[in-house]
Amino acid sequence: MAKVKTSFFCQNCGAQAAKWVGKCPSCGEWNTFAEEVLHKETKNDRLQLFSANKNSNGQSNKSILLQDVGTLEYPRIQVPGKELTRVLGGGIVPGSLVLFGGEPGIGKSTLMLQLALRLKNLRVLYVSGEESEQQIRMRADRIGITTDSCFILQETNTQNIFQQIVAIEPQLVIIDSIQTIHTSYIDSSPGSVSQVRECAAEFLRFAKETNTPVFMIGHITKEGSLAGPKVLEHMVDTVLQFEGDRNHIYRLLRTTKNRFGSTNEMGIYEMQGEGLKEVTNPSEILITDRDNPTSGVAIAATLEGNRPMLIETQALVSSAAYGVPQRSSTGFDLRRLSMLLAVLEKRCGFRLAVKDVFINIAGGIKVEDPGIDLALVCGILSSNEDLPIPQNVCFAGEVGLTGEIRPVNRIEQRISEAQKLGFEKIFISSYNKKGLDLKQFSIQIETVGKMEEVFSKLFG
Ligand code: TYD
Ligand code: MG
Repeated sequence: MAKVKTSFFCQNCGAQAAKWVGKCPSCGEWNTFAEEVLHKETKNDRLQLFSANKNSNGQSNKSILLQDVGTLEYPRIQVPGKELTRVLGGGIVPGSLVLFGGEPGIGKSTLMLQLALRLKNLRVLYVSGEESEQQIRMRADRIGITTDSCFILQETNTQNIFQQIVAIEPQLVIIDSIQTIHTSYIDSSPGSVSQVRECAAEFLRFAKETNTPVFMIGHITKEGSLAGPKVLEHMVDTVLQFEGDRNHIYRLLRTTKNRFGSTNEMGIYEMQGEGLKEVTNPSEILITDRDNPTSGVAIAATLEGNRPMLIETQALVSSAAYGVPQRSSTGFDLRRLSMLLAVLEKRCGFRLAVKDVFINIAGGIKVEDPGIDLALVCGILSSNEDLPIPQNVCFAGEVGLTGEIRPVNRIEQRISEAQKLGFEKIFISSYNKKGLDLKQFSIQIETVGKMEEVFSKLFG
């Protein structure tokens, strides 16, 4: 019997070692090494398509001068919908490999199926290793778009997938999901690091050799990173992330890597009964129209990617009923919240150490922009004092450790968006005033340097 070759792989980053080690020397994670079987005996009669074992024809590429390389402007495949077009940097680049990640149940399969159905004049192959043909049909009926150019394949073996690809010659391939697919050349189970990496490599070879774009859906681990090796992110051209709270209807589509466009772009979707719908005016939905101003509510003029967006932040401050005060936050980094509370305590003299503080960002959206700080801090104090902030006021500023209001980027865009939505006053950092033409705006701009100034201007 032939000896089975095995090796140890870090399930976090994909590093390989000859023997088991407790701590990964590459990514520093503990207890992530697992033994995987390497190469299986390949059957000679098997059609070897795009696999690593494929015989090369012995030719190698020659080097050429850079200026002799023809400039090829990638003729991108136009995709339906402004959001996806923007996030992809203007459409799908032929021959590109796109990794589409997100937590389970967030709507990855729905968005990809929608894309497949909407690309009516393109032959699309949707490969699913997770759902049956009937289930996909049910989903398509639910989405309610009909097309005669979308093929469905329920298969998990790469070689069988490639045989189907050779048969129907699709112009776009969608793999749902890379963790369920396996190649016959490696014996470890689907979803293991070496399987995921080898399958992705086969799709990469296929994409580059045939100039066909491939979308691969990938699952996300509990820690929020793409499951499987980090090497997957190095291999692909574009990494898209679908995020949002499953219990809320809004979903954010971000690019974390894009070889053919900016990674600053972001798209917003709303999960409805008939699939995902694009949201073109996010600010208007994320702000609740109230009859009376409520304490603890503050509007932040944030920037998500390149897109200005006004978001409602809510804070609740109450006396700690049980010993240790609680701090809880949804959509905002808890450590940053602790930092803001410490600044308020130390620099501004507010006694928040004995209070419970709860923070919520409307719509289940996660905000990374530090420009939201000022709104949050004002919301916390508004709730603490039980004094509502006027509804026509918004904020854009970062709070520093010294209690100063720090400037934020692209302030003009934020002010314009606030003005467009009918706000009458915006608080910004006085450092942002430099080079800013205040006359071009009709909205009242209050510049502030320290936290104390904001409070006296807000609450008198
Ligand atoms: P799905 O695309 O299966 O998620 P993923 O592939 O990321 O795991 O989406 C699953 C959720 O979306 C499920 O909870 C139901 C919901 N959904 C809708 O609300 N409306 C719809 O039209 C569809 C198709 C799904
Ligand atoms: Mg799915």
